[in-house]
Amino acid sequence: MSTLAPFANEPVLELRRANVRAQLQDAMTRLAPALPLRVPVMVGGDERAGAELLSTDPGDPERVVAIATRATERDVADAVQEAERGLRNWRTVGAADRAAALFRAAAWLRERRLEIAALEVRECAKPWPEADADVCEAIDFLEYYARGAVELEAGPSLLQVPGERNDMRYAPRGVTAVISPWNFPLAIPCGMTAGALATGNAVVLKPAEQSPGCALMLVRALRAGGVPASAISLLPGEGDVGAALVAHPRVHTIAFTGSLPVGLEINRAAGVVAPGQNHIKRVVSELGGKNCVIVHSDADLDEAVPGIVASAFVYAGQKCSAAARVLVHEAIAEQLVERVAGAVRVLVVGQADQLGTDVPPVIERAAQERVDRYAALAESEGRVAARVDGVPDRGWFCPPTVATDLPPDSAVLNEEIFGPLLAIDRAAGVEEACDVVDGLPYALTGGLFARDPAIVRYVRQRTPVGNLYVNRGITGAMVGRQPFGGNRLSGTGSKAGGPDYLLQFVEPRVVTENTMRHGLVV
Ligand SMILES: NC(=O)c1ccc[n+]([C@@H]2O[C@H](COP(=O)([O-])OP(=O)(O)OC[C@H]3O[C@@H](n4cnc5c(N)ncnc54)[C@H](O)[C@@H]3O)[C@@H](O)[C@H]2O)c1
Repeated sequence: MSTLAPFANEPVLELRRANVRAQLQDAMTRLAPALPLRVPVMVGGDERAGAELLSTDPGDPERVVAIATRATERDVADAVQEAERGLRNWRTVGAADRAAALFRAAAWLRERRLEIAALEVRECAKPWPEADADVCEAIDFLEYYARGAVELEAGPSLLQVPGERNDMRYAPRGVTAVISPWNFPLAIPCGMTAGALATGNAVVLKPAEQSPGCALMLVRALRAGGVPASAISLLPGEGDVGAALVAHPRVHTIAFTGSLPVGLEINRAAGVVAPGQNHIKRVVSELGGKNCVIVHSDADLDEAVPGIVASAFVYAGQKCSAAARVLVHEAIAEQLVERVAGAVRVLVVGQADQLGTDVPPVIERAAQERVDRYAALAESEGRVAARVDGVPDRGWFCPPTVATDLPPDSAVLNEEIFGPLLAIDRAAGVEEACDVVDGLPYALTGGLFARDPAIVRYVRQRTPVGNLYVNRGITGAMVGRQPFGGNRLSGTGSKAGGPDYLLQFVEPRVVTENTMRHGLVV
C-alpha cells in the first residue's frame, strides 16, 4: 500500500473553457458514425447474438444508440458457470494484482472520457456536466475500491496469547450478480462491479435495459485493464434476466441498485434456498428515496433557492438523491415559494447535448407518463406555483413544475416520482419538519438550510436519512468524501464509496493454530 498514492477524486472538466467545450462537440461528432453500438451477450470470451433490445436517445427516440442482444435463460446459466470457473483463478490473484487491473481499467476510461461522456449524453440524455461527472465517478470507484481491497487483504490484528496464533482474513463470497439502473449508467454498475472484483469475486453484470451501450464500455475497460473475461460477463436484457440471475442457486451475492419494488422482489426471491444450494445469498440493495429539504426561518434564501432548484431539477430530477419535497418554515413559506417558482420558470429545457440546457428529457415514455400523472394530481389536489411552458414536443420532455398547498396524504408528497416535479410543503417549525421526514418510508438523502447551530445540531441528531447535506445542494456525493446510501426502505447497503463497502463482498475467516508443539510428527 505504501507505494500507492493516496486516493483523490478524478477532477471534472472545466466546462467554462471554450476549448473544453469544443472537445466535447468533437467527441460527439466522432461518436455519431459509431452508432448504433452493438452490444453482445458476453459470456467469458464468447460473444453471442440473438433477439435484439434497442436503446434509444430520450431526446430523439428515433435515434437508436445501441442494439443489444437480449440474454436468454441459457445465457444466464452459462454466465454463472463461467463466473464459477473464473472465480477459481481470480480469487487466488493477490489484491495488489487485482488492484493493478482496476487501475488500468480506470486509465482506459480516463483516456476515453470524452467519447464515453458523449455516449451518456446520447443514451441517457445526461447533460454534459452530469455525463462527465459520471465518468469521473466510475474512475473514482475503481481507484478507491482497488486501494481498499489491498488494505482489507492484510486482515485485522487479533488478540494473540502464548501457544496459539490467530489469524483473520477476508475471502471473496463467490459469484456476484450486479444489477444496475440507467441513471448513472457507467458509475453505478462500475461501483458495484469494482467492489466485487477488487475483493476477488467474479461478476455477472445485468445492466439496465435503457443503457447497455454504457455498460459495454465498462466491460471493455475492465477487460482491457486485465480482468480475465471469465471474471466479468455481460448480460443485457430486461428485468426477467435480472430475476433469473437472482434465482440462480450458484449466485452468492446480489448487488442491486434500483427502485424499491424491484429491490423488495429481489430480497424476497434471494431468500429462497434451492435444493442443493448450500449458502444464503446476500443482497446489497440501494433503493429509491423521497428526499426532503428542510428550510428554517433563518435560512439564507440566496443560498437555499439555487441549492433547492439545482437539487430538484438537474438531470430532470432523475437522481436517487434529488430533492423531491421542501419543508419550509411557515414564516418564510410565501417568500420561498415565490423565489423558487421564479427560478424554475427560467430553467432552460432542452436537449442534453446543448451546453445551455438545465433540464433534459426524462429517460423514456413510461417515465414521461408517470411524471405527467403526478403533475396532473398536483394540479387537482393543490396549486401549481410554477411550470415551464413550451417544452420540446419531440423526446420525452416533462415541464419542470413546482407544486404547493397539497394535502398531507397526497401521493405527490409521499411517493417517489423521479422527475422534474418539486413539492413545497409548510411546517410550523423544524421539529414538525423532522416528524414528517421521520414518518416517510424512505430515508436516502435530506437537506437543511439554517443558520442557528442549535437547529443544525437538532436536525443532525434526529434525521434518519443516510446522507444529510447542510446549507448546500443535496446531490453530487463524491467517492471517499460522502459515502453514499440510504436507510429504512431506501436500502440495505453500507455506503457506496465509503470504507465499509467492500465488507459486503467478502466473508471473514478465522484460523487458530496451536503453536505449542508436543513433539515432532514426521
Ligand atoms: N440508492 C441509490 O444509490 C440509487 C441510485 C440510483 C438509482 N436508484 C433508484 O433506482 C430507480 C431508478 O432506476 P431504474 O428505473 O433502472 O430501476 P428499476 O428498479 O426499474 O431497474 C433496476 C434494474 O433492475 C432490473 N430489474 C427489473 N425487474 C427485476 C426483477 N424482478 N429482478 C431482478 N432485476 C430486475 C432492471 O432491468 C434494471 O437493470 C429509482 O427508484 C432510484 O431512486 C437508487
